Amino acid sequence: MKKYIMVIGCLFCCVPLLAQVKTKAKPRHVAGLALISGKGIYEKYCLTCHQADGGGVPNMNPPLIKTSYVLGNKIRLIKVVLNGFSENVDIDGESYSNVMPSHDFLKDQEIAAVLTYVRKNFTNKAGPVTAAQVKAVRATNKKKA
Ligand code: HEC
Repeated sequence: MKKYIMVIGCLFCCVPLLAQVKTKAKPRHVAGLALISGKGIYEKYCLTCHQADGGGVPNMNPPLIKTSYVLGNKIRLIKVVLNGFSENVDIDGESYSNVMPSHDFLKDQEIAAVLTYVRKNFTNKAGPVTAAQVKAVRATNKKKA
């Protein structure tokens, strides 16, 4: 009998404790999701090719420093990330042998964050890219395919 009382007593003690842990952990989780870091995404998905300083690798991966793609038309820039880039075109007078894979698995907010990061770093000074802009380009992108 004593054992049962102890078990039941423990349950009453632990349930509110657990509930507290749950409610405490929840807002932190939501905050973590809301805080998408452009730098973090760059380091995870772009750095290996375009390098930490955005300088690229000569003849292989282009730099992201003041190129016409980075500073220019946002629609074209968003498409590079969504579709990848394998056309053998000159980028500001140079050509690059590597192929950039599509990053369309990234969420709208993630693409917006990483492109905003690129447009504001590596000595670039261009306006942000918003998730709404990425969403709009993604929608027209799909229609074509
Ligand atoms: C596997 C290597 C690789 C990865 C990863 C990669 N890129 Fe690229 N990227 C390239 C190559 C190579 C080109 C040029 C392709 C060509 O000329 O055919 C390019 C082109 C570009 C361009 C247009 C040209 C310029 O230099 O302005 C932008 C912008 C760009 N990448 C941004 C990104 C961003 C942002 C990410 C991460 C989300 C990323 N890339 C991930 C290899 C990569």
